[in-house]
Amino acid sequence: MRALADNVYSVGVIDWDLKLFDRLIPLPDGTSYNSYVVKGSDKTALIDSVEPEHVDELIAHLVAAGIDKIDYLVALHGEQDHSGALPDMLVLYPDARVVTNPKCKSMLIDLLDLEDEQIITVEDREVLSLGDKTLEFVYTPWVHWPETMSVYLKEDRILFSCDLFGSHIATSDLFVSDKCQAYEPAKRYYAEIMMPYRKPVLNNIKKISDLDIAIIAPSHGPAYDDPKFIIDAYAEWAGGEVKNEVVIPYVSMHGSTKEMADYLADALIERGVTVKIFELAEVDIGKLAIALVDAATIVIGSPTVIVGPHPHAANAAFLTNLLRPKAKFASIIGSYGWGSKMVDQLCSMISGLKLDLIEPVVVKGAAKNEDFDALDVLADRIVEKHKEIGIFE
Ligand code: FEO
Repeated sequence: MRALADNVYSVGVIDWDLKLFDRLIPLPDGTSYNSYVVKGSDKTALIDSVEPEHVDELIAHLVAAGIDKIDYLVALHGEQDHSGALPDMLVLYPDARVVTNPKCKSMLIDLLDLEDEQIITVEDREVLSLGDKTLEFVYTPWVHWPETMSVYLKEDRILFSCDLFGSHIATSDLFVSDKCQAYEPAKRYYAEIMMPYRKPVLNNIKKISDLDIAIIAPSHGPAYDDPKFIIDAYAEWAGGEVKNEVVIPYVSMHGSTKEMADYLADALIERGVTVKIFELAEVDIGKLAIALVDAATIVIGSPTVIVGPHPHAANAAFLTNLLRPKAKFASIIGSYGWGSKMVDQLCSMISGLKLDLIEPVVVKGAAKNEDFDALDVLADRIVEKHKEIGIFE
């Protein structure tokens, strides 16, 4: 039994083997579904449950912790990796009531077929006494669903933040023990899950700033006993500042686009720009997402396939548009054999980002001297743009 504080136990599940989250996101380091018991002098609450396929492990942990009665099943989020075991919990603890906000209540009824009378709703900043422990509910919406909520355990100064501040990492450490190691999984999680919601992230950081927090306990990955570390990281990632970095996601069928991507990367490096280049046929999209957190410019490289972009390039453009990074500039490089609408199609796929498009370089066949000159001009234009916004060191 692992304790965050006196009578506050971690009873969730470490998923060492999961390789793909939502059938989309690669998980090189697994994940965890965190669930916490808060045992007050009068009542006991379980904060979040686990992915339903792991319910037996949750039950085993509850038994090991000697939890024979639960009064409140707190649901901070409707998504099934945290709510999915609630029906089993209600069978095991039939007198318990689910405690959540009205939006999440509606989701739990839709997703899990819970009954109206099984659920109690709480308002923002409402408190629930467990006797010698007090839960304060703090609405933290849109990180990353509309109903997401946190709960603050006043006596122990623990903020249970659900997905906010989470990491996809399977670790036996209850708390972050090595901040260098913790940083990348946390940034990967932010990039994949939270980046589209940068404004709500910043609003919620502001909202929790009046709480005296000793521990942040998210619903994935280890807890933080130095909350400033992860709050400051989130504030930087979600803040408006971009870095003097260019991300080049590219795919190449016969080498022309690869040659151009490599040439542009070298030209940018020579000019003092940081470059992160990703070959899209075998990319870990989590690594690409991490690079998109800070970059000022995105240059997509693609050959033409049946007049449009290569499907891997289209996928990267679509994903980038979904993740809504704070990049300011974009361009496109690539090649075609006899005709191409690739630039127009890629531009429309990233149109949601409202990027300033720098003149693309698209060549017929393999790049020639004048095409490499055009790539040098593109590198110069990117440097000029970075200078204009004051990020070129
Ligand atoms: Fe970890 Fe949005 O669920």
